[in-house]
Amino acid sequence: MSIQIVRDKNQIILKTKRTTYAMEMMYGRFPVHLYYGKSSPKPELAITINHRSFSPNYEELGRDFCPDNNFMEFPFFGNGDYRATALRVRDLKTGCDVTDYTYRRAKKFKGRCDIPGIPCGDADEHTETLEMIFDDEVTQSELHLYYTLFPECDVISRYFTLINKGDHDLQIEKCMSLSLDLPASNWELLSFHGAHNAERQTQREPILHGVRRIASRRGASSHHSNPFIMVADRKTTEERGDAYGFNLVYSGSFLDEIEVDQNGTLRVMTGLGDENFSMLLTPGEQFTSPEAVMTYSDKGLGEASRNMHRFTRAHILPPEVFEKRPVVLNSWEAFYFNIDEKLMIDFAKGAKECGMDMLVMDDGWFGERHKDNAGLGDWTPNAQKFPRGLTSFVENVRAQGVKFGIWIEPEMVNPNSDLYRAHPEWAIQAPSREPLQSRHQLVLDMANPAVLDYLKTTYAKTFAGVHIDYFKWDMNRHMSNVYSNALPPERQKEASFRYMLGVYELFRWFRAQFPNAMIENCSGGGGRYDLAMMKYSTQIWASDNTHADHRTRIQYGSTFGYPTSVMSCHVANHKNSCEIPRRLEYSYRVALGGPLGYEFNVLAASEETKAAMKKQIEEYRTYEDLILGGDFYRLVSPIETDCYAHYFVSEDNARILLSFLQNVGDPKQKAYKLKISRAILNATYEDLRSGKLYSGEELRRGITVTADPEDEYAKMFYFVKKS
Ligand code: GLA
Repeated sequence: MSIQIVRDKNQIILKTKRTTYAMEMMYGRFPVHLYYGKSSPKPELAITINHRSFSPNYEELGRDFCPDNNFMEFPFFGNGDYRATALRVRDLKTGCDVTDYTYRRAKKFKGRCDIPGIPCGDADEHTETLEMIFDDEVTQSELHLYYTLFPECDVISRYFTLINKGDHDLQIEKCMSLSLDLPASNWELLSFHGAHNAERQTQREPILHGVRRIASRRGASSHHSNPFIMVADRKTTEERGDAYGFNLVYSGSFLDEIEVDQNGTLRVMTGLGDENFSMLLTPGEQFTSPEAVMTYSDKGLGEASRNMHRFTRAHILPPEVFEKRPVVLNSWEAFYFNIDEKLMIDFAKGAKECGMDMLVMDDGWFGERHKDNAGLGDWTPNAQKFPRGLTSFVENVRAQGVKFGIWIEPEMVNPNSDLYRAHPEWAIQAPSREPLQSRHQLVLDMANPAVLDYLKTTYAKTFAGVHIDYFKWDMNRHMSNVYSNALPPERQKEASFRYMLGVYELFRWFRAQFPNAMIENCSGGGGRYDLAMMKYSTQIWASDNTHADHRTRIQYGSTFGYPTSVMSCHVANHKNSCEIPRRLEYSYRVALGGPLGYEFNVLAASEETKAAMKKQIEEYRTYEDLILGGDFYRLVSPIETDCYAHYFVSEDNARILLSFLQNVGDPKQKAYKLKISRAILNATYEDLRSGKLYSGEELRRGITVTADPEDEYAKMFYFVKKS
C-alpha cells in the first residue's frame, strides 16, 4: 500500500511513484503538514515555528502550539489561524462561524469515494484513498478528509465531506477542496489568465507576502482565468527544479488562493471559494466538495505538466480518447449562420475530396436561427433549411463518405425563441429585474429539473434515428443576475453550484443516450477548458481565435495543465472565412499542437490546395498517435520569444515529432538550439521529412534551427529511430 498510517508516531505517509506526502496529528488532534516533495524515506517537518507572535494558542497544550504558526493540513475558520481558511461553517442556531475539528481516526482503502453529481478521477487498480475523520462537538458535524492517490501519475487528489449530525441547520460559507502549506522559499506562481480569443496566456510572477486570488466569478471556469496553477521555485526551469501543479475538477466559478504569511510560509488552496457559493446542510444532510488534484516534480515544469497529462489521459478523459479522431471540417468560419441542406451536402463532398473524415454542421440549423439573436432553445431543424428533416439529410452526408457532427448549445435561450415565450421563468434572472443579455441570450436555469427534462425530451426527439458521431457542445455567455426559481431564498447562494450539477447530469445523459458520439466541448472557444469538462469531452475547442500567430501562445499555455490530445486545433483563416488561409502550411503546422481539423470554405479551394490538404492529412495520420498519446516537451516559449518550439516523443523514444514555429514579424532572435533530451544516445534517427540522418547524441546536444521565410517560418522534423 502507498498509504502508511504510523499509529505510534501519529503520522500518515502517502507515497506515489516519485513523491512523498506526510502529515502528523499533533497532540493526537491537529493534522499538521510535514512534507510534500520528491520521494523521501524519512519525511520530517521542514521547519518548526514556535514563536507566538500575537497568534492565539491552545492554553492547555502550553503556549507553543499556535495554529497560525503551523503548517495546517486543512485550516478551518475561527481557531486563530489568521491565514486564508479552507472551511468555514456557520452554525445557524447561534450564527457563530467558529469551528474546531478534532481528529478521531483514519482508514485507508483501495479505490476512491465518488463525489455525488460532480465528475472526478476514475480509480484503477493502483488507486488508494486515505480517509481522515474529524468532528466538532458544538456544531455536531463530522468532517471527512479524503486523499486519493493516483501513484502512477504522481497525483494526489483532495476532497472533503461535511455531515450535519446535529439537530439544527449549518451552512458552509467557504469551501476549499485542497490546502497545502509549504516552507518559505523563493516561490513563483504560474497562472493562465486570458480573455475571449486569448485563452490561457502564461504568467509567471514572484509570490510575495499577502494574498493572491485567481478566481472566476462567471459561473464558468472561463477564458479569463483557469483553475490550473503551478508553484515553482524561482530557479525552476522546464527540465529542473521543484514544481507543483494544482487543479480543480470543476467547471463553474472557482477560487485559487495563495498566501504568504508572517513566517514566509506559503499556503496554496483551490476550491469553490466563498463569493459565489454557500451550502445549507439541514440535519442529516451532507456535502462533498469537488475534487482538487495536485502533483509535484523535482524535474521542473515540464515533468509536472506531464504528470497532469498522464493523469488526465488515464483517469479523466472518456475512454475513446486514444482511438483515432476524425479530421473534421467545420462549417462555422466558412458560412456562419448561412447554411442549408444543399450547401452542407456540397461541403461534405468537399470534405471528402480533401481527405477529411467528418462534416461538422455548426450553428444555424435549428429554429429561427438566422443570426445570433434568435432560436436558442428551439432544438428542431429549421424546415426551410432542412425540408426533409435531419435523418435523411445525415444519411446523404454519410453517402458522401464522411461522418456527421452537429453543434448544440443546450444551456442557453434567446428571448426571441418559442422556448422563452413559453417558459420565461426557466431563464436565470433576478426577481423584479430585467435580466442582462449577452450575445442576445440568457442562461437557462440548469438547477431546475423541469429545464433538464425539457432538454432531454427535446434532444431525444430531434436526434431520434439520426446518425450522429459527434456533438459540439457550446456555451456562449456567462452568468449574471444569478437566481434560481427552483430554489428557496435560503439556498440562493447554491444556485450556480447546482447549475453545474444540472449541466453534468445532462452531459451524462448525452453520453448514455448517444454512447457512440464523441463530444467536443466549446465555450466561445476554450472558455471551459477544465478537468470536469474533460470527463465528458474528448476534445475542447481551444479558442475562437484561429489566427495561427496568436494560437501559439494559447496552445503553449494550454499544455501546462492539460494534455495535447484534448486541444482541438483547426487550420482556419480567422475572420476571413471565405478565403483559403494564405499560410496554409504554417496554419497546419501550428494546428499540429492537438487533434487536427479544418474550418474554412474548402469549396473555394483550387485543386492544388485540395491536394495540399489531402497530403497534410495523410502525413498527420503517420504521427497522430504521438500528438494524442506521446510525451510532450516544451522547448521555446512564445511568451518570452516570438517562437514556439515543442516536441512529442513515443514512450520508447523511437519516434519524435519536433515543431518550430515563428510568428511573422521582426524576429527577436533568428537561431535557436533545440535539445531533444529524450533521444537515445547511441541511436541513429532519420528525419522522414528531409531524409537526413542524426545521431541521438546530436539531437540531445541540440540542433540549430533558424526562422526561414522560404519555409513559412515553420520547421518540422519527424525523427524515426533507424538502429
Ligand atoms: C461560438 C463557438 C464557435 C461557433 C459559434 C456559433 O463562438 O466558439 O466555434 O460554434 O459559437 O455560434
